[in-house]
Amino acid sequence: MSEWSGDGVTGLDSRDADIRDAQRVIKVAQETRPDWIVVAAAYADVDGCETNPDLAFAVNRDGAVNVAAAAKQVGARLLFLSSDYVFDGNKTTPYETGDPRNPQSVYGRTKAEAEIRLFKVLPDCCVARTSWLFGTGGKCFPDTILKLAASREALDVVDDQRGCPTFAIDLARTIVRLCRTNATGIVHVTNAGDCTWFEFAREIVRSAGIATPVRPVSTQRMARPAARPAYSVLSAASLHALGIEMPSWPDALRRYLEQRQLTR
Ligand SMILES: NC(=O)c1ccc[n+]([C@@H]2O[C@H](COP(=O)([O-])OP(=O)(O)OC[C@H]3O[C@@H](n4cnc5c(N)ncnc54)[C@H](OP(=O)(O)O)[C@@H]3O)[C@@H](O)[C@H]2O)c1
Repeated sequence: MSEWSGDGVTGLDSRDADIRDAQRVIKVAQETRPDWIVVAAAYADVDGCETNPDLAFAVNRDGAVNVAAAAKQVGARLLFLSSDYVFDGNKTTPYETGDPRNPQSVYGRTKAEAEIRLFKVLPDCCVARTSWLFGTGGKCFPDTILKLAASREALDVVDDQRGCPTFAIDLARTIVRLCRTNATGIVHVTNAGDCTWFEFAREIVRSAGIATPVRPVSTQRMARPAARPAYSVLSAASLHALGIEMPSWPDALRRYLEQRQLTR
């Protein structure tokens, strides 16, 4: 929210406006008359989506379409946050915005179907795909790793899923820029560089000055309900085309650790 300096911003959670409630969403849009609506709301529990597919589609796909319909009614532009999980992970080079979607999980399907439907309702909407989000103020991978590293002798972390960690602050700044420049279409928004979860965890522990060893393991050893893409690195070409450069993920991690220290 603080990234929107100089703009009037209304932040809403599910108690203010459950996006499954089309009438409520339209009422809020009519009351606030925004220039832009950013849809970050989601049922984002990737494993939970496998066991609650009805809820996942109701929120992530149908809820997003409700917001798009409201945006259309009040003449607002729309930015929808989507995910690297719309891809299958079979590539070995960064995913471009035009690569075919082929989600392997319920969560990924909800996001992929939402993207397609949103462009039908609002052809000039902006879809910002991001990945591996972390930030202070909630549960996230670095926070979990630091807590586990403090209590365990060693950590086993998967080393066969590669992606782009992304600091929520850097994502927020870029969302503001995308809105201010009236961006349309699909944009990939991640911190620069890529790594595996193991490499990310090793850097988190090293940067925090913790001696706990981090060991690489395979996804097979850490079975989870939802399939994750083995490779979901998002190409920065769409961002560069807009003249936007994101900081590297190690730089973002350093700033996250500083911020985490201050907020503890
Ligand atoms: N985390 C990642 O690594 C990642 C990667 C790629 C894309 N994304 C996308 O980025 C966005 C933010 O992700 P996140 O991990 O920060 O998610 P999060 O922490 O789980 O936050 C989700 C937000 O959505 C709200 N919400 C849930 N159901 C809702 C409903 N029916 N109506 C209105 N609001 C609802 C929640 O509000 P309440 O707290 O009030 O329930 C919460 O504020 C999501 O769109 C997610 O799909 C995340």
